[in-house]
Amino acid sequence: MDKIVINGGKTLSGDLPISGAKNSALTLLPCALLTDEPVTLRNLPRLADVDSFGHLLNQMGVSTTIEGARPEDFGRVMTLRAGRITATVAPYDIVRKMRASILVLGPLLARAGEATVSLPGGCAIGNRPIDLHLKALEAFGAEIEIASGYVRASAPKSGLPGGEYTFPVVSVGATENAIMGAVLANGQCILNNAAREPEIVDLCKLLIAMGSDIEGIGTSKLVITGKDRLHGATYRVMADRIEAGSYACAAAITGGTLNLLGAKISEMEATVAALREAGVLIEENAKGVHVNASQGLKPLTLSTAPFPGFATDMQAQFMAMLCRADGASVLTETIFENRYMHVPELSRMGADIEVKGRTAVVRGISDLTGAPVMATDLRASMSLILAGLAAKGTTEVNRVYHLDRGYERLEEKLQAVGANIERVGD
Ligand code: EPZ
Repeated sequence: MDKIVINGGKTLSGDLPISGAKNSALTLLPCALLTDEPVTLRNLPRLADVDSFGHLLNQMGVSTTIEGARPEDFGRVMTLRAGRITATVAPYDIVRKMRASILVLGPLLARAGEATVSLPGGCAIGNRPIDLHLKALEAFGAEIEIASGYVRASAPKSGLPGGEYTFPVVSVGATENAIMGAVLANGQCILNNAAREPEIVDLCKLLIAMGSDIEGIGTSKLVITGKDRLHGATYRVMADRIEAGSYACAAAITGGTLNLLGAKISEMEATVAALREAGVLIEENAKGVHVNASQGLKPLTLSTAPFPGFATDMQAQFMAMLCRADGASVLTETIFENRYMHVPELSRMGADIEVKGRTAVVRGISDLTGAPVMATDLRASMSLILAGLAAKGTTEVNRVYHLDRGYERLEEKLQAVGANIERVGD
């Protein structure tokens, strides 16, 4: 297995391109199932999960062709065509490795009237149930049964009749599945307390481009009027706001200055507000977001929350950064029950972090020290990279396949702005 080796202490500076958003790409790809016409996605990130999703769609009869990036994009172009859906199954061996595969459920139900999708099971950060996905689709008229670890969903021959569902808990994936299930319904589908993440706005914009009728985009109430069919479209995946926030933390932890090309403050306002409160100077320019962290870091008190709150996907990265703050910070993780797997690894690098239930107290220290550490999940592994960039000495991050799921060409991007970092194969 590959590992990443960092000799820390370098101050980062320069331009760093931000790739297309992983969590948008993974909900845009299954939209190809909703039409027999070609759907072309631009600015797709080169990530393991995007490749896996393409293979899953191939097994359902979707053809996929890849071209190089357009000049104005950082990511590749993929054209998908579901002329005829030849299979409606997402098997356990795929779903267990990539949880986002469950996002074929809504589109298969909408286009083919049926879907058999493995229950995803849990992962390192939590149990990750899909009960809300199923309840929303049931509210729109789907028949759902669970047997032998699989969800079997079916719609009446005439299509989903439509209905209304209020989410008791904000869920990104369940909102996405429900929207994709609703766009070909026979009637109107209403979602209350829907997730408002920018990736869901991206999804709605693609579906509108394909001919859908969706009102309330960007709000917690979505009204979707089903159409008989959708047509193809070409759409550019939004920039990855979590990647951009992660590299902003890289500038902050090394006291550097980075230009995050393609990033937009409007998609990461809570992250920007927290960084500014920590003393980081951030402004948007024509090329992206400029981050200047040469003034030192102040401690913060932060709680994760659904968008527009502080993103849970930024918690681990901020924890690493706040190890260098001048004082004690308090972080509370309200979304996932086990998203502190990075703490014991950061502690091996000298971090002073105390976890009590969902809350972590991070006492800033002057220096982290390099050590061999183990990645456990995607964002935890990024927090270890960040700590390694600032630590005195050498840090080895093992199990970097976690990183490859969400950070395209990480070592190349960091080398280009001055980091002493390399990937070492077994
Ligand atoms: C998406 O996961 C993201 N993944 C996650 O990013 C992100 O952390 C999460 O949203 C929250 O923002 C993708 O978009 C591919 P949820 P998702 O449904 O949809 C509970 C990363 O690092 N819940 O919003 O699975 C759930 O247990 C990944 O890029 C139910 O109870 O998250 C959690 O406590 C990690 N029942 C809360 O809701 C359900 O049916 C939020 O989960 C669904 C969710």
